[in-house]
Amino acid sequence: MITIDDIRRPISADLEAFDKFVADNFNAEGEMLQEMLTYALSSRGKGIRPILTMLSALTCTAATYRPDERNCTKRTYLAALMMEMIHTASLIHDDVLDSADERRGKPSVNAKWQSNLAIILGDYILARTMSLGMASAQYDIVSYVGTAMAALCEGEVLQSQHAKSLDTTRDDYFTIIYQKTASLLGVCAALGALSMGASREDIDRMRKYGEALGIAFQIQDDILDYNRNNNTGKPANNDLREHKITLPMIEVMESKSEEEVKEMKELLKRCKDDEAALDQLHNMVIEGGGIERATEVMQAYLSRAMHLVSKYEDTPYRKALIDLCTFVAERDK
Ligand code: FPP
Ligand code: MG
Repeated sequence: MITIDDIRRPISADLEAFDKFVADNFNAEGEMLQEMLTYALSSRGKGIRPILTMLSALTCTAATYRPDERNCTKRTYLAALMMEMIHTASLIHDDVLDSADERRGKPSVNAKWQSNLAIILGDYILARTMSLGMASAQYDIVSYVGTAMAALCEGEVLQSQHAKSLDTTRDDYFTIIYQKTASLLGVCAALGALSMGASREDIDRMRKYGEALGIAFQIQDDILDYNRNNNTGKPANNDLREHKITLPMIEVMESKSEEEVKEMKELLKRCKDDEAALDQLHNMVIEGGGIERATEVMQAYLSRAMHLVSKYEDTPYRKALIDLCTFVAERDK
């Protein structure tokens, strides 16, 4: 079993320096805002995005393996910080949109301070992020970050549109998860390469690696949502409650008759406050083999990601990028 610590090990000195970089550069004016910011940043999660930026930076430049030293540049840290903050802000806003009370096993910002303040906190994080990028005059990085932010918003709106109309097809699903998850991870990996002065070809290849990893990451997220014993810190079956049709259900719908699909959509409509309908639909997806088939699709994306980095020199950084693929498949949180 690959753990996140295994993946972090080759860049432990960089990650330590990165934490200090965040602490030195990211604080708020005003006691209440600072309290909210500290709360939001104290449960930042696994830190997949900064890890990805740094590993990409060191893999595609075939950096000499020096685990006890910092190997990334200030530009790499800035890119990692910006992407991590965009992600943090988007989750704060997402919990407002989803009226979610929990995030990573703790009360969400909106549950603790209410939605209006949670929106302001997300905005503040975005504003500070962009102003940091502009002040450092790293305009190429800032431009990538802006594109990633726009994609997130597009994905979120599309998802909400489809949750309303209950008509998500396979194509819709892949567009949504590309925009809301994969594009961000693609930009994280691309920025790692860019921050170290890598070639256009390497930047593009790393972007594709991050995107394939991101698609797989989101599919696993959607699979975990069906698992009542997951460790995600979020209640199971959230997606069905929010009328979100994800890959496990799409796989099953594609194997059913028109009548049966209609029945599934009728159940989905009632999932918000009818536990029996929720259970029935959940069981249909499980018994219909939705999890197994979604897992196969996820594995195909991970194979693609692994193949993309296989051309680089065999360093502990490249190995960590490959291990990251295994970690995504094995994770339960
Ligand atoms: C989590 O999805 C949400 C996202 C990955 C993106 C959310 C994006 C926005 C709210 C747009 C705002 C954008 C910016 C830049 C602030 P999920 O609900 O499937 O996952 P969850 O189960 O973890 O909540
Ligand atoms: Mg959500």
